Amino acid sequence: MSNYPRLFSPLKVGDLHLSHRVVLAPLTRLRSTQPGDIPNHLNAEYYSQRTSPGALMISEATQISRQGKGYPAAPGIHSAEQVEGWKLVTEAVHAKGGFIFLQLWHVGRASHTSLHPETGLPVSASAIVTADGSKAFTADFQQVPFETPRPLETSELPGIVADYRRAAENAKAAGFDGVEVHSANGYLLDQFLEDKTNHRTDAYGDSIENRARLLFEVVDAVVEVWGKARVGVRLSPYGKFGDMGDSNPVALFSYVLQQLSAREIAYAHLVEPRVGAAGAGAPIDDSQPRTSHIFRKAFAGVLISAGGYTAKTAEETIAESYADAVAFGRLFIANPDLPERFRRNTELNTPDRSSFYGGSEKGYTDYPSLDQSTATLQ
Ligand code: FNR
Repeated sequence: MSNYPRLFSPLKVGDLHLSHRVVLAPLTRLRSTQPGDIPNHLNAEYYSQRTSPGALMISEATQISRQGKGYPAAPGIHSAEQVEGWKLVTEAVHAKGGFIFLQLWHVGRASHTSLHPETGLPVSASAIVTADGSKAFTADFQQVPFETPRPLETSELPGIVADYRRAAENAKAAGFDGVEVHSANGYLLDQFLEDKTNHRTDAYGDSIENRARLLFEVVDAVVEVWGKARVGVRLSPYGKFGDMGDSNPVALFSYVLQQLSAREIAYAHLVEPRVGAAGAGAPIDDSQPRTSHIFRKAFAGVLISAGGYTAKTAEETIAESYADAVAFGRLFIANPDLPERFRRNTELNTPDRSSFYGGSEKGYTDYPSLDQSTATLQ
């Protein structure tokens, strides 16, 4: 009997039957084949290593268009070559009995012109520059100050929705089991949602209903492609990553979650603000609001919580009904067999931050699994 009976109990997500609740969080690793942002055999091996039967895995954030790219070597889902590349990944995951959703990404202002010279300046809801001292990545992995983004014209927004729709169709062609709309962590849809970055005066600004309009247009388009049972949405209320903020997160995100609840999507995925800039190694800040506690009642479906969890705190959170499943990021980077380690209550490898972004198999596919020969001794 595992120490974590709830973490290792089955869960229905949409129409998928998971055998446990240890979810792979979406993790940008910047190792696609260049040029072309194409997933490759090494990426397939990485996902395969992290697959267990009946597990839910979320892919790294994946740009829906050239304009939506914010980081060098992040993969895309807007070309035929990328679809072929992703098939390597989905086939590897399915061969081990896992399920994988593709995280659909447009970074908005969190970009740099050098990544998409043909589309010019990064775009956003409004011409507000990221001003928290964080840096943009250029095409050659240099870190430079952010450019002031160009606000999207109202007339351009149907084109953005169309890009999401096409990306969702491509995800289907690539063999994914569903898609997660990335509306968290200060990227384009979050830039529309939160009033620190949205100063628009058209039908996509000012009121909460207006700021959430683009997200719902995207969700509805993606649901048309996939059906509601195969669509999740990631949100990060109170998150400051990307110099974000909102004057009333409770009102904004309660509304968004209630609307998503009414759409009966497969799941909502909330990032706890206590992790801050997780990729940058910020310590856990337990004085931050607990979003799974605050927003649980706003969403009737499956809630996935992420951010700073251990097996013990994940088990407690599920036991207290604040979440139905928990996604793990950094621990999954360092422990390809994380669910098995949790199940057996064994020690964990430590993640090495210096190899999170870019590079080769070092710090990617070379973290050791438990010695299979000891499996029967536990
Ligand atoms: C992330 N995170 C992230 N989130 C997301 O929605 N899409 C992504 O592509 C990424 N990429 C990413 C890369 C790396 C290297 C890190 C460390 C984090 C955030 C991630 O999904 C998760 O919310 C945080 O890591 C917090 O969870 P842990 O790491 O405390 O379990």
